[in-house]
Amino acid sequence: MSHQQELHGEVFYPPEHIVAQANLPDYEAQHQAMLADLAGEWGRIAEENFEWFAPWEKTLDESQAPFYKWFVGGKVNIVHNALDRHLKTWRRNKVALIWEGENYDQRSLTYHQLAREVCRFASVLRAMGVQKGDRVTIYMGRVPEIMIAMLACAKIGAVHSVVYGGFSVEALHERIEDSQSKVVVTADGAWLRGKVVQLKKIVDEALLRSPTVQTVIVVKRTGEDVHMEPGRDLWYHELMKLPIADAGCHTEIMDAEDPLFLLYTSGTTGKPKAILHTHGGYMVGVATTLKWVFDLKEEDTWWCAADPGWITGHSYIVYAPLLLGVTSVMYEGAPNHPFPDRWWDIVERHGVTVLYTAPTAIRGLMRFGDAWPNRHDLSSLRLLGSVGEPINPEAWKWYYRVIGGERCPIMDTWWQTETGNFMITPLPVTPLKPGSATKPFPGVDVEIVDEEGDPVAANEEGYLIVKRPWPAMLRTIYGDPDRYVKQYWERFSEPEKGKFIYMTGDSARRDEDGYIWVIGRVDDVIKVSGYRLGTAEIESALVSHPAVAEAAVIGVPDEVRGSVIKAYCILRAGVEPSPRLVEELREHVGHEVGPIAKPSSIEFVEKLPKTRSGKIMRRVLKARALGQDEGDLSTLEE
Ligand code: PRX
Repeated sequence: MSHQQELHGEVFYPPEHIVAQANLPDYEAQHQAMLADLAGEWGRIAEENFEWFAPWEKTLDESQAPFYKWFVGGKVNIVHNALDRHLKTWRRNKVALIWEGENYDQRSLTYHQLAREVCRFASVLRAMGVQKGDRVTIYMGRVPEIMIAMLACAKIGAVHSVVYGGFSVEALHERIEDSQSKVVVTADGAWLRGKVVQLKKIVDEALLRSPTVQTVIVVKRTGEDVHMEPGRDLWYHELMKLPIADAGCHTEIMDAEDPLFLLYTSGTTGKPKAILHTHGGYMVGVATTLKWVFDLKEEDTWWCAADPGWITGHSYIVYAPLLLGVTSVMYEGAPNHPFPDRWWDIVERHGVTVLYTAPTAIRGLMRFGDAWPNRHDLSSLRLLGSVGEPINPEAWKWYYRVIGGERCPIMDTWWQTETGNFMITPLPVTPLKPGSATKPFPGVDVEIVDEEGDPVAANEEGYLIVKRPWPAMLRTIYGDPDRYVKQYWERFSEPEKGKFIYMTGDSARRDEDGYIWVIGRVDDVIKVSGYRLGTAEIESALVSHPAVAEAAVIGVPDEVRGSVIKAYCILRAGVEPSPRLVEELREHVGHEVGPIAKPSSIEFVEKLPKTRSGKIMRRVLKARALGQDEGDLSTLEE
């Protein structure tokens, strides 16, 4: 195979069969065309690939930057494009979702069946008084009903706020409270590693502190006994039997800029913030990125093994695959239950052609050795994907060799809750370098800059920024537009010059071939097993325990999970440190935030390094924990 450009370092070129079947625009030409005429190109894509109830007047409105608007005045509903329009074609009988429970329960839904369930549940929500613009909190495991509930909200113009089922009481409470949801959709429980996660019990506790919720709809998944509060709690399956579950529910006509969902994520400081995405731009962005990056074809079986409760699941389990009319797999449980070949068994049995997962899962499964995947026929796989954190070359190569049989290029996709869709990523025909997310998606204008905002030289580390808007970008932080500006746009923008720069919060470098290597967060966000957590959430959980006066947490490297949490606590006067207290505090954080946030170690200290203004210097703690140079200590209080 001939290559125009000699690339530096270790390079994996795309196999001939991938190149031969690729149905993609030429990367360079498309990227340049989009940079030259962003609005024109996105407008063309939006027009050619989706049905609009009414055309837009302006593709991109930058007049109130950084509050950008896309497809202004256009009328649309993402659900019309994800479901309704397919029913007019042969796709009505195509399988939309193949679902497998951890206990091997199986269910599949055709586009017709899924659309019908969505209609019926949308009617139920309407009957419960949910109106356009109302927020609905969804707190469930990986079951088809989470998808049905999300789509039902969108169909009637309600705004869903999904809270990941691995979060616990305080995290859920905060998110219900902040979104002012009147309705919560949940399940009695979820199966995980053969055990039941008691979702309903967590909802009950969270609602003790959130009296605004009027209705809780409960999906029966585990059949375990749960408390049902009279006048508030209703069973999903009972509601769906009533005449109110009308299959004739119409899809609400929305403005392109109307909110579609809120998704809470951790930021630099304070409480998690609600990222707001909209119907029009998000729809165009997620579908186009999935189509090009994984070159999805009608006959593909796509498996995004993430959780619907995170952005990866929102964009690439729920919305984009349905928008493209492909068949998706959803699996409820743990990758190693009952054995470490569960995933490989699923790939084989369902004939998965594209698998998209996270480095932490790959590293976790790699530990069990090659024999588990090797006993399965994984030849259905055509492409692989990775997301959530940088993938270390060792894990990349294992994934490539053992899972992909050296046939399947790996799409290492860099993006964020805020970006809504893939931003830096290869296409199937891109030569790959293990550990690099390669190049920006066509039309995405990224740069790596120094403290002053000037581009850094090749191979130098700097702040990763985005210089131009994109359709699926976040629109604001719900209820806090000032924080939106402050957090993402203040650092490098020059509003007086009309220059707006989006700060990603990541650092990166670009090599001599223009390949981008994302290094990691530059703020107080910690990625544990690819999950995004803020130091503030964990610290406030720790200090809410009566034994703790002050707390600081940092992320320290871990071979499988990427990072784990290390906590430093100052105890209240008279409290004695003990191993039992360590366990109690870990449990407390698990109860308040969620099991993923539990510190793996807790150290009791007398003092914490602080600046004179009282800010904890986590950088110093981190350097100390890693045995590194502590750097400039001139701002340290003592
Ligand atoms: O640090 C980057 C890392 O994940 C962050 C975004 O986290 P979240 O909003 O939870 O979204 C994760 C799924 C899209 C980024 O700021 N990250 C995500 N993908 C990659 C990555 N880091 C390196 N390489 C990636 N492919």
